[in-house]
Amino acid sequence: MVIRTPRLLLRDLTPRDARRIAMLANDWDIARMMGRIPHPYSEQQALQWITGLTDGEFVLGIVHNGDLIGLCGYTPEGDTAEIGYWIGKPWWGRGYATEAVSALIDFCFEKRGFKRLTCGHFVDNPASARVIAKLGFRFTGREHLWCEARQQVVETLKYERLRQDLVAEAKVS
Ligand SMILES: CC(C)(COP(=O)(O)OP(=O)(O)OC[C@H]1O[C@@H](n2cnc3c(N)ncnc32)[C@H](O)[C@@H]1OP(=O)(O)O)[C@@H](O)C(=O)NCCC(=O)NCCS
Repeated sequence: MVIRTPRLLLRDLTPRDARRIAMLANDWDIARMMGRIPHPYSEQQALQWITGLTDGEFVLGIVHNGDLIGLCGYTPEGDTAEIGYWIGKPWWGRGYATEAVSALIDFCFEKRGFKRLTCGHFVDNPASARVIAKLGFRFTGREHLWCEARQQVVETLKYERLRQDLVAEAKVS
């Protein structure tokens, strides 16, 4: 499974990625913004996570110039998928999250047939809020979700994006 974008390649993970994922994600500024990444985060934990991914969960490595620089993916629930992503700190602010997730969104709608995508960010994560806005998501409400790294629930802003044909239908009706 490979998705190409102008600057990036999105590909399936292998157990060999565990070391790199642990190295990049063992960073408080990443873990504290994600729901499920513990902190600290070891290579062994990353390996367990990769090998424990269930059939429904879909995760792709984000590769730039041959190096894995982050992850993006989704968890399905019926005809909806919840999107998630992170980028290693050295590559922040270059548009890579927006470019990768934009391609993932196209894939979800066009190849996987999802009708609706959702995502969310913790209230203290303005960078992710900006990515979500650039990707055309619509604010739907607030929830309190668990953050493994912080070991507490954190106020979370939730968003959705509908498939284009359904947006058109909604406008007509
Ligand atoms: C959020 C994250 C994925 C963004 O990755 P990225 O590759 O830097 O994102 P992009 O470059 O595509 O876009 C970032 C945008 O946020 C903006 N931004 C960055 N920090 C910001 C801040 N503190 N306040 C407001 N906007 C900010 C950037 O200026 C950019 O917007 P612009 O293109 O209009 O200038 C990355 O910071 C990350 O992995 N953070 C930790 C994990 C995380 O938050 N994952 C998402 C969970 S919801």
